[in-house]
Amino acid sequence: MDPAFWEQVLRSRLTVRRFEHSLRVARTAENLARLWAADPEKAYLAGLIHDLARDMEPAELLKQAADYGIICNEIEADFPVLLHGPLGAAILQRDYNLTDSEILEAVSLHTTGDYPLGTIAKIVFLADYIEPGRAYQGVESARVAAQSGLDLGVAAAVRSIITYLAEQQMTIHPKTLNLYNHYVLTGILRNSEKG
Ligand SMILES: [Fe+2]
Ligand SMILES: [Fe+2]
Repeated sequence: MDPAFWEQVLRSRLTVRRFEHSLRVARTAENLARLWAADPEKAYLAGLIHDLARDMEPAELLKQAADYGIICNEIEADFPVLLHGPLGAAILQRDYNLTDSEILEAVSLHTTGDYPLGTIAKIVFLADYIEPGRAYQGVESARVAAQSGLDLGVAAAVRSIITYLAEQQMTIHPKTLNLYNHYVLTGILRNSEKG
C-alpha cells in the first residue's frame, strides 16, 4: 500500500490533468475517512487509484473489458466510459496483485455506485464527485451534506447525478438506480409530498 509506487503507475497511465484529479480525490477521500471513522490510508489509496483505467479510448475499454472477462450490459456497451471502474479493478487485481476487497469495490463502483456499497466505496464515490476541482451544479450541496453524514453526502451526489442524466436524456446505469432507490426507501432522500 505504498502511495509512491502507485503514483509512478498512474503517471505512466494517466494524463497530467487526470493524475492531478486523482490526487485531489485521494486527499478528499482521506479527509472524509477521518470525518466518518474509516481508515484514512485505505481511503487515500483507493481514491488515488480509482481512475487507473480512465484514460483509454472507448474501443480500448471494450476490448480490454472483454479480455479481462468483464461482461458488459447494453448501457455499458453504449457508453463504454462506464467500464473504466470495473476494468480498473480487474487490472489492479490481475496485473498488480491488489487483493483488498474494499479498495477493489471502491474502484469498480466509483462511477455508478450500487447498493449495497461499502464504506470505502461510498467515500471514493463521494470524493470523486466533490473534490475541489469540481464546479458543476449540485456540487456545493453535496459538499455541505458530506459534512453532516457520509450517506447524506452520497445521497446528495447520486440524486444530482440522476437528475443530470435524466435532463441530458442519457441512460442511467441500473447500479446507480439501486443506490438512489435505497436512499429513497430508507428516507435519506425524502419525497416531500409523502411527508
Ligand atoms: Fe472515474
Ligand atoms: Fe475520477
